[in-house]
Amino acid sequence: MHLSRAVLTAAVVSLAAVAVPTSAVAAPAAPERSVTDVVPVPVSAKPDPHGDFRLTPSTVITADRGAGQVADYLRGLLRPATGYPLPVVPHAAGLPAIALQLGHDTRIGTEGYQLKVARDGVTLKANTADGLFEGVQSLRQLLPSAIEAKRVQHRTWTVAGGTILDYPRFAERGAMLDVARHFFRPDQVKLYLDQIAQYKVNTLHLHLADDQGWRIEIKSWPKLATVGGKTAVDGDPGGYYTQAQYQDIVAYAASRHITVIPEIDMPGHTNAAQSTYAELNCDGKAVPVRTDTEVGYSSLCISSPVTYKFVEDVVRELAAITPGPYLHIGGDEAHSTPPADYIAFEKKVQPIVAKYGKKVTGWHEIAKSDPPASAVPQYWDFGGDNASVAAAAARGSKILMSPANFAYLDMKYTESTPLGQDWAALVEVRDGYNWDPATLVNGVGESQVAGVEAPLWTETIRTSNDIEYMAFPRLPGIAEIGWSPRSTHNWDAYRLRLAKQAPRWVQQGIDFYRSPQVDWK
Ligand code: ACM
Repeated sequence: MHLSRAVLTAAVVSLAAVAVPTSAVAAPAAPERSVTDVVPVPVSAKPDPHGDFRLTPSTVITADRGAGQVADYLRGLLRPATGYPLPVVPHAAGLPAIALQLGHDTRIGTEGYQLKVARDGVTLKANTADGLFEGVQSLRQLLPSAIEAKRVQHRTWTVAGGTILDYPRFAERGAMLDVARHFFRPDQVKLYLDQIAQYKVNTLHLHLADDQGWRIEIKSWPKLATVGGKTAVDGDPGGYYTQAQYQDIVAYAASRHITVIPEIDMPGHTNAAQSTYAELNCDGKAVPVRTDTEVGYSSLCISSPVTYKFVEDVVRELAAITPGPYLHIGGDEAHSTPPADYIAFEKKVQPIVAKYGKKVTGWHEIAKSDPPASAVPQYWDFGGDNASVAAAAARGSKILMSPANFAYLDMKYTESTPLGQDWAALVEVRDGYNWDPATLVNGVGESQVAGVEAPLWTETIRTSNDIEYMAFPRLPGIAEIGWSPRSTHNWDAYRLRLAKQAPRWVQQGIDFYRSPQVDWK
């Protein structure tokens, strides 16, 4: 392809186009999209109706040193629908450009960014590549929803003009996928990573082991995956990730600026391991395989040295293939582990995680074991009083908020939702949005909150369409609670912005729930 010729010709055409004031031909009605419509809503955004930028075949992307990966990602986002070359170059050389710049701006921290869209170009500035990546997610929403189409669309491409200054309220905005109850292939996990990244979600917690299946290859205990991985809820087919496949998922997540947090749930939720290896049971007999959805019946053998050899082998292997700082050690619903044994188990296992260079995160029950201040208990109850969680926060732990009655994506929207469960609540879109992480648990205020996570348990979830139907439109609401300032929290404003996201999901093939609480148009 004669790229330079095409670029030069297009540049002349676009200069001619710029000479016509766009304001003279633009409809006077409210713009289809604006810097104030971005989800999660930015810290501050100022539209400029005269500042729209037109993408053309001559547009280039310029990238500072260290911004090349984000520039390539942006190019990958914009090319399929525009069909434009959008070369990534060190200097614009007079061509209209989207400029990705790295600098030092104390207002925006490590994930914040500043975006300026003007007639003559787009400038995105951040302190880190993470910040540029989050800024790109905002920029993307300033283009028509057709930008999400997978094939070339012959139309004009106008980026809504204005400026944004933005940074997150909380450091962690997460999603969890339970790949134990039902298994999801690497390509399905990658699809979900792409879907959540657009709302500035920066962690994916993978629930890798539970009663019904074990999903990660552990070389020193090979049958965990090859035998314990065969099963899933209701006798459905199982599966597991080889370590290479897991590392590939982790690398893909990193390319979306998402950190993977792997979970091995223990000392309960361990039937898949205990049905595979007899020596993990106190009586030395393997328990029967279970594919029903009961909870609270399994427990590792707390008094047995073999248990800690198993834990150390698993933690060592998982730590070696996990670049992120956290290992999630579960700890929930250990109803068959006596309380003193539970504490004893946690006191032995948490130092093993530290020995392999990782920090502990776990469901909030781990707070009962006085974990170190570096540990992050993940709160999944309904809010109010929880003495051990408040005490952990007082000792310096940050708490990750996943209240089941607001943030669990597996809860049904209404009684008639065909998928999901209802033990915590029915969670309509408004319910999933109307809560505040900083007032949820007594004694855990704004500065003690690590962030928010939206877990998706998969007892009833089998396909990517199922994932999408439960996550959309609730996941963007959890992401907004985690990113946007408390002062912006307003359902009536949010539901209007949310409605404008739907055409993007249609283009992306996301099968979402058309809640009657939102005017989808
Ligand atoms: C949980 O829902 N058992 C964490």
